Amino acid sequence: MSRRCVCPGSFDPVTNGHLDVIARASELFDEVLVAVMHNPAKSGVFDVDQRMALIHTSLPQFVADPERIRVAAFADRLLVDVCRDEHVQTIVKGLRGPGDYSYEVPMARMNRHLAAVETVFIAGDARLEHVSSSLVREVAAHGADVTGLVPPAVRDALVQRWPNTQTGGRPAS
Ligand code: PNS
Repeated sequence: MSRRCVCPGSFDPVTNGHLDVIARASELFDEVLVAVMHNPAKSGVFDVDQRMALIHTSLPQFVADPERIRVAAFADRLLVDVCRDEHVQTIVKGLRGPGDYSYEVPMARMNRHLAAVETVFIAGDARLEHVSSSLVREVAAHGADVTGLVPPAVRDALVQRWPNTQTGGRPAS
């Protein structure tokens, strides 16, 4: 039987930390569903189609076998309902440090309580401990170079969104 997991998140935008966790999940599971969870009432920096496109474009730089990874968006849904509909029993999340632990463990317990869905935690790469979508958005909005924190396609999208964002020596085309 094929082993499936889901890597859920807002991915606004996807970071190198997310992609590292997705790549490592794909070493452990046969199929990975990257679930872009969103609330249509709340607008992000990137719309859901852009978030999905940025993940798709960036996967081959991180994952040996991108065809085993599916990217899909789910609006206003409980993650356990997505797991049930997609026949997935395991959630995979990255833990960067104690802050993530405090945020993630109650959700993992709730998801197990609601639907016996287990959560597997992957220790985030220490070199990416400071990388989050919210900090990337904030520093890019103020013009800082986000090279090395996000894949090139995301950096380019951030430069388009905030043209004063630096490009790490590459011209912003
Ligand atoms: O990228 P984020 O914001 O850390 O991702 C959090 C996310 C989207 C995985 C989480 O908020 C979630 O699972 N949302 C779906 C709604 C849900 O199931 N809520 C109850 C969680 S116990």
